[in-house]
Parts: sequence; C-alpha cells; structure tokens
Amino acid sequence: MTDQSNGSGGNVRRGRFITFEGGEGAGKSTQVSRLVSRLEERGIEVVATREPGGSPRAEALRQVLLSGAAQRFGPAGEAILFSSARIDHVDNTIEPALARGAWVISDRFADSTRAYQGALGKLDRRFIMELERIAVGNAQPDLTIFLDIPPEAGLLRVSKRRGGEPADRFEAEGMEFHSTLRNAFAEIAKAEPERCIVVNALAPEDVVAAAIWREVETRLLGEAPQKPRRTRRRQKAEERA
Ligand code: TYD
Repeated sequence: MTDQSNGSGGNVRRGRFITFEGGEGAGKSTQVSRLVSRLEERGIEVVATREPGGSPRAEALRQVLLSGAAQRFGPAGEAILFSSARIDHVDNTIEPALARGAWVISDRFADSTRAYQGALGKLDRRFIMELERIAVGNAQPDLTIFLDIPPEAGLLRVSKRRGGEPADRFEAEGMEFHSTLRNAFAEIAKAEPERCIVVNALAPEDVVAAAIWREVETRLLGEAPQKPRRTRRRQKAEERA
C-alpha cells in the first residue's frame, strides 16, 4: 500500500480495492452488499461499484454490451469495448475513491475480460494482458474473491431470479460456455494466490460471508504483529548487556 497526498496538504492512506468474480448466479451482489455493511460498521468509507459500468460513460456502454449488440464485433472487439468502459470506471470512480482513502468493492473487474473474452473467445493472452495493463494501470485489486459454483446450479439460480424476463447475452449461453468460464477463473486464482481466493458459493449465504470476512480481516485489516512487550527486568538486563 502506498501513501499519497490528497492534494490538500495532508497524507491520506490509499484505500483498498476488492473485486468479486464468478459465473452467473454465484451470489456476487449479495456478498458485495454484506461485505460493504461489515466494512462500514468498522467506520471505513466504502464505494460499491460494478462492471460493466460504475461511471456514467461506462454505464452507457453497459447497455450496448449486455444487449448483445457488441457481439458482432467479435471477442477482440468486445474486449476492447469492455476495456474502454473500464478506463472510464477506473479514472472517474475507482482511482479517486482509493486516493481519498476509501475502499472500493467492484462486482466484476478485469478478470471477467480475461475469462469471458480471453478464454472463451480464445484470444491471445498477450493481447488481453496488454489491454488490462492499459485499462487498469495502478488500480490493481488487492484482493479478488472468486465465488465458485457449478454451472448447473448457477444457471438454475439465475433463471429463478429472472422469472419471466429474457436472458441477457451471457446468461443465454450453453453449459459448455459456463464450464470453460469456471475453469478460466480457477486458473487465474491458482496462478495468483497472493491476490485471489476461491470461495465455494454453494455453501449457505452466511458461511460464504464468513469465509470472505475471514480473508478480508487477515489479508487487509490485519495489524502488524505486535512487538513483545519488554518487562522491566528484561529492560534492565538489556541495559546491562
Ligand atoms: P451482469 O448483469 O452484471 O451479470 P452478473 O450478475 O453475472 O455479473 O452482467 C455482466 C455480464 O457481462 C456477465 O455475463 C459477464 C459479462 N462481462 C464480460 O463478458 N466481460 C467483462 O469484462 C465484464 C466486466 C463482464
């Protein structure tokens, strides 16, 4: 974590950035709001956001992306559009919040582009990573939580939640799509264990929330281990030495 000036003369400790990722119906939004409340109870300012979207221009692109209209551009074109939305989101929502010391929690972020456009679209990894470097810059997540759910269970949850509403562009894809997606997320988590954790999203909501909170506490709220207190006798012995 870096300290940086907030422009008003004082030094503000940069906030923490947490992202949630996972397949359809993994319960991300529920867990995002539970984590937000828990952090707020600690007196932390939290900005909850989402992708695609999270800033006015990015929200306008969200309409296009989820309608399926962007599909005609192909996976590379879609990846560029998601990244364009991300640039605006990072510059106008995420960076300013982190800089003033707020914590940011985003429902999806760059790992979704790696998995949905990169892995599913079979795009060159270097292309995706370069796009990510450009869009994300210094706003790398401190912690990414992958909510893992078997595709059958996730899709069932989504169709129940949707009621009679039509599926969006991504929900409408088949089982193979969702299995590839799950594997792509699992691979990212395995490759970057210092940033990522995988949580079993089939577990009851409270159990999932508790697992997430444990990680946030130890990884991001953990205090530096206290130095052992020196007893007076030990202090004297040290002075004599
Ligand atoms: P959303 O309605 O927010 O669904 P979910 O609850 O699954 O997050 O839709 C976002 C969809 O956009 C989701 O299917 C994943 C997809 N997506 C990408 O394909 N690439 C990306 O970079 C992002 C951020 C999302």
